[in-house]
Amino acid sequence: MKLAVIEGDGIGREVIPAAVKVLDAFGLDFEKVPLELGYTRWERTGTAISNSDIETIKGCDAILFGAVTTVQDPNYKSVLLTIRKELDLYANIRPVKPLPGIIGVTGRSDFDFILVRENTEGLYSGIEEIGPDLCWTKRVVTRKGSERIAEYACKLAKKRRNKLTIVHKSNVLKSDKFFLNICRQTATANGVEYEDMLVDSMAYSLMMHPEKYDVVVTTNLFGDILSDMCAALVGSLGLVPSANIGEKYAFFEPVHGSAPDIAGKGIANPLAAILCVKMLLEWMGEQRYPVIDEAIAHVLLKKIITPDLGGKASTLEVGNAVAEFVARHL
Ligand code: NAI
Ligand code: MG
Repeated sequence: MKLAVIEGDGIGREVIPAAVKVLDAFGLDFEKVPLELGYTRWERTGTAISNSDIETIKGCDAILFGAVTTVQDPNYKSVLLTIRKELDLYANIRPVKPLPGIIGVTGRSDFDFILVRENTEGLYSGIEEIGPDLCWTKRVVTRKGSERIAEYACKLAKKRRNKLTIVHKSNVLKSDKFFLNICRQTATANGVEYEDMLVDSMAYSLMMHPEKYDVVVTTNLFGDILSDMCAALVGSLGLVPSANIGEKYAFFEPVHGSAPDIAGKGIANPLAAILCVKMLLEWMGEQRYPVIDEAIAHVLLKKIITPDLGGKASTLEVGNAVAEFVARHL
């Protein structure tokens, strides 16, 4: 197993070392391949990610990623979009689950669902034209793209409560009617119970009744928006992990960015990055990954927490406490 480790910029350089300590506590046979990508590298060399970096990444099985700073410069190539495209990481997975003692915006702690976002097409097709008076972006939905994301969501649902919610805007968009139909057919073929929701009423329902959902599948832009909203259900950006998964590769990253406002202070919350390690282990088929949930519950209850959660602990103190708990309880 070869793991590319990309810290990136800002707090990515703080949370990833903490997460790697937790990974190391499992004592697995990993070859770690560190790569410097992103804004800091761009400033130094003029390249955020090169073709040879992509080849190095393709030689790995999985990627653990912190965050990169984005700049508006035509010469700055988006590291994230490049990797997603090059590795064909079509499924963006975000588990949305409360953590012990942490209360999100709704005050509820009875929800547990997974958002599955199509990650390669839709409005992010990159096919667009900009004119002086008219601008358009093509929204691409293919049978292959819809089938594979629906299959992925159904597979997840079967391992859980067997319930799929298909989120769309088919009353306005023909491309979503197409997506919806394919998802329905896939769910029927898999024996998964399903319902469908218009994206606007889904936004409302997720805030009012998040407990109703099990696996939610949707197109790229809707998934992007809903998934950040769901971070508010959990309670902090520093607590939500995500995975980008394809046929061959998988890429794990916390939802948050490089947080320049707190970077360098050693106070970033590493729990989102540590939950990425849990997702990585689960993806690899390592059976002992649930010990990370126990370790996180332990640090939260002991109040070994960073300032964003009202505590005084540093990034490394939280990382060390989680890693020590894991090492003791394997
Ligand atoms: P951000 O997620 O970096 O920060 C938003 C706010 O949340 C800040 O106040 C920050 O201090 C706080 N925060 C974030 N993560 C935290 C953590 N682990 N612990 C404690 N507090 C945390 O989003 P922002 O400020 O909009 O973006 C900063 C840079 O990051 C931009 O250049 C942006 O483009 C980039 N970005 C990169 C992402 C990625 O690499 N996946 C995702 C989102 C933003
Ligand atoms: Mg987003």
